Amino acid sequence: IYEQPESVVNTMRGRVNFENHEVTLGGLRGFTHIIRRARRIIFIACGTSYHSCLATRSIFEELNQIGTQAELASDFLDRASPIFRDDVCVFVSQSGETADTILAMRYCLERGALCVGVTNTVGSSISRETHCGVHINAGPEIGVASTKAYTSQYIALVMMALQLAEDTTSTKQRREEIIDGLYRLPGHIKEVLAIDGKLQQLAVDQLAHEKSLLILGRGYQNATCLEGALKIKEISYIHSEGILAGELKHGPLAL
Ligand code: UD1
Ligand code: M6R
Repeated sequence: IYEQPESVVNTMRGRVNFENHEVTLGGLRGFTHIIRRARRIIFIACGTSYHSCLATRSIFEELNQIGTQAELASDFLDRASPIFRDDVCVFVSQSGETADTILAMRYCLERGALCVGVTNTVGSSISRETHCGVHINAGPEIGVASTKAYTSQYIALVMMALQLAEDTTSTKQRREEIIDGLYRLPGHIKEVLAIDGKLQQLAVDQLAHEKSLLILGRGYQNATCLEGALKIKEISYIHSEGILAGELKHGPLAL
């Protein structure tokens, strides 16, 4: 968690030019024209990596106007979901070795789709077997609970959406706003980490003895809620659930 002011910079290093507002992901350079023509972009991942796909799906749709869906690898395989040659399948995995994600990648390769990897581990199965991709360069994620990998996956996917949209004049201003936001990000992370003492006190005084924590948000923050709940479960062993705030009246309010 505390490495994030540096790890997010490493993910963007040599790839984002903050003065010209340009993004260059070397690994996607020869493939952007194919991705732009895709009928659908399908993200496939597990756990935290799936949350980073959910978190960035709307940026892809907004900037590129391509239907974008996010799939849990296990469910995607259970359904034997149809995949076509003009689909682009993006496999997001910190380790690059998660069994369901690898099986889903091989399923999509067999069906002729362009397969793109977004992984932290150079030389992993997903890094090697995909047609192209992006290494997130977050550094080793030693803890089981994925933390800095999540923020770096998020940034790598945002950079990918920006690069795909680079020729679209109608989104120029929006892309510049996003790139300015990326520039400010390490500073924002430092601000949050600086109040860790207060946050710890809040957790000890008000949350640690609860049986269940429901985390609500919508839009961009839906994925934050799901990811927050997953981290609380893994680290605190307290039941926690991320809930899309728009669904509040449709069941959760009863709790
Ligand atoms: C690459 C070098 C980096 C160097 C930079 C200089 C590597 C691993 N990276 O970074 O050390 O500083 O050029 O310009 O040598 N790929 C996949 N699937 C994946 C991830 C990546 O096929 O899941 C492929 C990419 O398409 C690319 C290669 O692996 O061909 C390297 O990807 P990446 O490290 O993201 O590329 P650069 O940022 O250009
Ligand atoms: O290595 P991967 O990103 O493919 O791993 C997928 C999940 O197992 C992983 O994100 C898991 O949910 C996290 N360790 C939870 O913190």
